[in-house]
Amino acid sequence: MTTDPRLDSLRQAVPGLRLSAEPGDLEHYGRDWTRRWTPAPLAIAWPEDIAQVQAVVRWAHEARVALVPSGGRTGLSGGAVAANGELVVSLERMNRVLGFDPVDRTLTVQPGIALQAVHEAAAAHGLVYPVDFGARGSCSIGGNIATNAGGIRVIRYGNTREWIAGLTLVTGTGERIEAGRALVKNSSGYDLRHLAIGAEGTLGIVVEAVLRLTDPPPPAQTMLLALPSFEVLMQVFDAFRARLRLQAFEFLTDLGLAHVVAHGGTDPFDIRHPYYVVVEFDAVDEAQQAAGLAAFEQCAEAGWIVDGVIAQSQAQSEQLWRLREGITEAVARYRPYKNDVSVRIGAMPAFLAAAQALLGEAYPDFEVVWFGHIGDGNLHINVLQPDGLDDDTFMRQCAHVTELLAGLLREHGGSISAEHGIGLVKKPYLDSTRSAAEIALMRGIRTAFDPAGILNPGKVFD
Ligand code: FAD
Ligand code: MLT
Ligand code: ZN
Repeated sequence: MTTDPRLDSLRQAVPGLRLSAEPGDLEHYGRDWTRRWTPAPLAIAWPEDIAQVQAVVRWAHEARVALVPSGGRTGLSGGAVAANGELVVSLERMNRVLGFDPVDRTLTVQPGIALQAVHEAAAAHGLVYPVDFGARGSCSIGGNIATNAGGIRVIRYGNTREWIAGLTLVTGTGERIEAGRALVKNSSGYDLRHLAIGAEGTLGIVVEAVLRLTDPPPPAQTMLLALPSFEVLMQVFDAFRARLRLQAFEFLTDLGLAHVVAHGGTDPFDIRHPYYVVVEFDAVDEAQQAAGLAAFEQCAEAGWIVDGVIAQSQAQSEQLWRLREGITEAVARYRPYKNDVSVRIGAMPAFLAAAQALLGEAYPDFEVVWFGHIGDGNLHINVLQPDGLDDDTFMRQCAHVTELLAGLLREHGGSISAEHGIGLVKKPYLDSTRSAAEIALMRGIRTAFDPAGILNPGKVFD
């Protein structure tokens, strides 16, 4: 079998670099969770340390070869897709904890470490890294940083951005930048760390990160609430938020729950209800537990809640959470087209009503699974591809509806991507959230970090 001469030159430039152009690896590492593009990378490289990453980038800069930084490939926007002869740079082998600082309460890690491994490392020191979501076992910290990942605890702790004390970045010329230096205070000019967070690998490869840790949250109570209509959702949110310190407020529809149950989840109710909320709040003492019941009763009396379950144990709480967190896997076989949109919490009621009216009309023949981090103003709208419908027809219709949705987001001051990133999927709609002037500035920033345009080209914007 002949090998691409560029790979011989890469081997010479980076001795000892693990490299593969095996068809199985190209297929595996060329795609993420979107499963919409045919993987076609040049090869996969697995650097082992920062020096190797720098050497690969310098070589790519010289040879003008496009690179795709790659973490756990759980991304939902196509950011880690390699479908155009790129070299995938998998950070998988750089997956260690490098140190813990008990005074600063930080954990220094390599980018390929899984989110769950970070949770475990923090717990070993009696602390938590509070960013959390369903892909915890397979997504990487590097990917979390590159997408500014959110998840189920944002309402309490914020996005990934809030927890990155410092990061080491290799830019498009192979330069190593220490951004942030883990200082609490640092007013010394532009914060390059925050440019790299959420840049989806277009400004540099994250090769090390210093993560802030915090105290574990107080004991919590988990409830699953059944709601009679979509319209009362924000009223229930207001009622619980007014009385309690929320740790999570997550929403799902009956259809989402039905898919999870078909996938092995347990429905705690005897009858089906149209909408559900998983709410979790501090319940340190009897007074806080009573406040939880009072919020529940207030909503029940107002007719906003028609049924509810309170978890009596950790195992029950996990069972309730599975109903919400299990949706992504349960619907994965339909290769859903995902909208991941956000508006200000205050704009949520008006936006929800408009979005429901639009999507009800726009997708009369498709199953649409709604869920999301409603307490953060973030809604996930998953359009399931009907069996037998060809990809082109399905994607055309989804693109048309996304145009309409983007218009609605413009009206309500929202974002076309709340937490999954722009990648390839949302690239055509970036201008619904960012002005022309902003996009022009972003282009300039990208060129400053990566003058040859080798870092994840074609992602976010062309
Ligand atoms: P990848 O998919 O490998 O890459 C994502 C992007 O980051 C790509 O653009 C890639 O080029 C870039 N990248 C990866 N590593 C690096 C690096 N070291 N340096 C620079 N760039 C890099 N997301 C949420 O925000 N909230 C959720 O609640 C959530 N839940 C999920 C649940 C499930 C079941 C699944 C499958 C996904 C979920 N996601 C969620 C989406 C996904 O897990 C996140 O976007 C995650 O941050 C991606 O991490 P990754 O390591 O898999 O990144
Ligand atoms: C979630 O909130 O579960 C994730 O963002 C995953 C998804 O949207 O499918
Ligand atoms: Zn989400």
